[in-house]
Amino acid sequence: MPVGEVYYPSEEVIKNANIKNWDELNERATKDYEGFWEEMANELDWFDKWQKVLDDSNKPFYKWFTGAKTNIVYNCLDRHIKTYRRNKLALIWEGEDGQLRTMSYFALHREVCKFANVLKSMGVNKGDRVTIYMGRIPELIIAMLASARIGAIHSVVYGGFSVESLAERIEDSDSKVLITADGAYQRGKIVPLKQIADEALQRCGTVEHVLVVKRTGQEINMESGRDMWYHELMNLPIATQNCAFEIMDAEDPLFILYTSGTTGKPKAILHTHGGYMVGVYTTLKYVFDIKEEDRYWCAADPGWITGHSYIVYGPLLNGATSFMYEGAPNFPYPNRWWQMIEKYGINILYTAPTAIRGLMRFGESWVKRHNLSSLRLLGTVGEPINPEAWKWYFKVVGNEKCPIMDTWWQTETGMFMITPTPSVPLKPGSGTRPFPGIEMDILDENGNSVKPNEEGYLVIKTPWPAMLRTVYKDPERYVNQYWSKYPGYYMTGDSARRDEDGYYWIIGRVDDVIKVSGYRLGTAEIESALVSHPAVAEAAAIGLPHDVKGNAIYTYVILKNGYEKSSALIEELRNHVAHEVGPIAKPESIEFVDSLPKTRSGKIMRRVLKARALGHDPGNISTMED
Ligand code: WT7
Repeated sequence: MPVGEVYYPSEEVIKNANIKNWDELNERATKDYEGFWEEMANELDWFDKWQKVLDDSNKPFYKWFTGAKTNIVYNCLDRHIKTYRRNKLALIWEGEDGQLRTMSYFALHREVCKFANVLKSMGVNKGDRVTIYMGRIPELIIAMLASARIGAIHSVVYGGFSVESLAERIEDSDSKVLITADGAYQRGKIVPLKQIADEALQRCGTVEHVLVVKRTGQEINMESGRDMWYHELMNLPIATQNCAFEIMDAEDPLFILYTSGTTGKPKAILHTHGGYMVGVYTTLKYVFDIKEEDRYWCAADPGWITGHSYIVYGPLLNGATSFMYEGAPNFPYPNRWWQMIEKYGINILYTAPTAIRGLMRFGESWVKRHNLSSLRLLGTVGEPINPEAWKWYFKVVGNEKCPIMDTWWQTETGMFMITPTPSVPLKPGSGTRPFPGIEMDILDENGNSVKPNEEGYLVIKTPWPAMLRTVYKDPERYVNQYWSKYPGYYMTGDSARRDEDGYYWIIGRVDDVIKVSGYRLGTAEIESALVSHPAVAEAAAIGLPHDVKGNAIYTYVILKNGYEKSSALIEELRNHVAHEVGPIAKPESIEFVDSLPKTRSGKIMRRVLKARALGHDPGNISTMED
């Protein structure tokens, strides 16, 4: 297998691959990408076909499959229950407490229809926003699909976020309905979701109904007239299992998902029913070679784009059987994941470098207790994977027979953009090349392509069907953030280099986004949480390298007059950030300082703080005041 640093696929892998000749497909798709995506779109069901595949008359507000009518949920569920897939498992779910639930396509369709009727009875209509805040339980998927079925726009807020993050997302999306749970199990403890939601709702005024799934069963506050139990609503006569789907225009919004950007508040990325559907269907089919008999496990959280595209929509569009696990990878013991792979006969595992590094720390004996021979393909996403973790994943988990799909993409791209397919040679740490039909480049400051192995800005040169359509309620930000540095090209915010074989190597973010355990956080969110504490006058956050998390958050704080530096205050501030933003944002360290490096226009120079922390030369500091 391994030849130098290139890993070639085996005969067996090539035999199974949906793309046998990558170069041939790539050539065809590059010559005529509209034709390629049209061909892919024709594999799905439409109530009316498109007049045009791509409408680029109002760049960068591209439209795909204009005039076409569909509903992504129809393609995820109704299409399958007319076939042999009616009795096929759509979902296998294991709770952290060991509870097992399974749902056939028929059952999932039924539950989605019932809940869609519940939502309708709450007055939810086409175009309304619905916020969903839950742990990894089947009802999260049901809630997403039920919203989409009736044309509502879902906004899922990751269950690891906390009060302020939830409040500002509810407020910005103007949601009338919040769907949550009493709690979520995480590493043997309960995350008090409903309690966090109650606190968030005191800070924002849009929500009329709160629908609560009972998962953990502890005592919670239920506000009469506002809060209702999911299981009680699902037993009402209105919750029938027939619910007509809304006929959607291809360009009608499917969901918004908040993500961190360079400045200010998180922005809501908007995706649509038509193009998004074609993009995630196609990429999952070709990159993970989904087979009818496969059991596929994407271990991400549905609260992030990875979960939207490759736990919920992608697998269901492909009629696949998905596995979902509620809890922590090392609970109660570090073999939990490997045990479940063996128990359920998982064939494909898709996870993040941070999880691999975390499990690697426990040593390979935990893996070796289990027979993982069902695995055929592995995947990774979220941040660059260090070759050491890649090799461990390949050797220890995949037993040197499973190619690793290192998929580069973003909330904004909706689908895989740089990714191998199983039949191509791999290099540890590289996502190989752009998916067929996607044209990318690496540019210098002046917009020229850089030479091989030189670092530059990663851009996307051609539109793709699952691309974001806009930033919800803020089209100007969409244009400025993504399309203005190099007009005509989509700016990813990442830096990268490309080797002599055309393989891409991602270096990292060039903006104020920090990737902590693969989670995307903005320095602005962490800083504003710190400043919301009465003791803090000013704050700055940076990311520094961390063995398991990839990056960890380091912060610098200027105290207000009258407050004393103390280790108790450091703890209080760290907990304050966890309470406001979420445990993932809790700073690794807080250092009290008397001043912060700033430009003359008053912007914090995080690059200077970072250089200082790493003991590097801060580079050009001519714009620094004082
Ligand atoms: C950013 C997007 C979309 C999946 C989850 C992340 C980084 C993502 C890779 C990869 C190196 C990666 C980039 C990107 N990233 N995948 N395979 N190799 N870096 O979505 O939260 O929107 O973050 O994650 O920096 O810009 P996201």
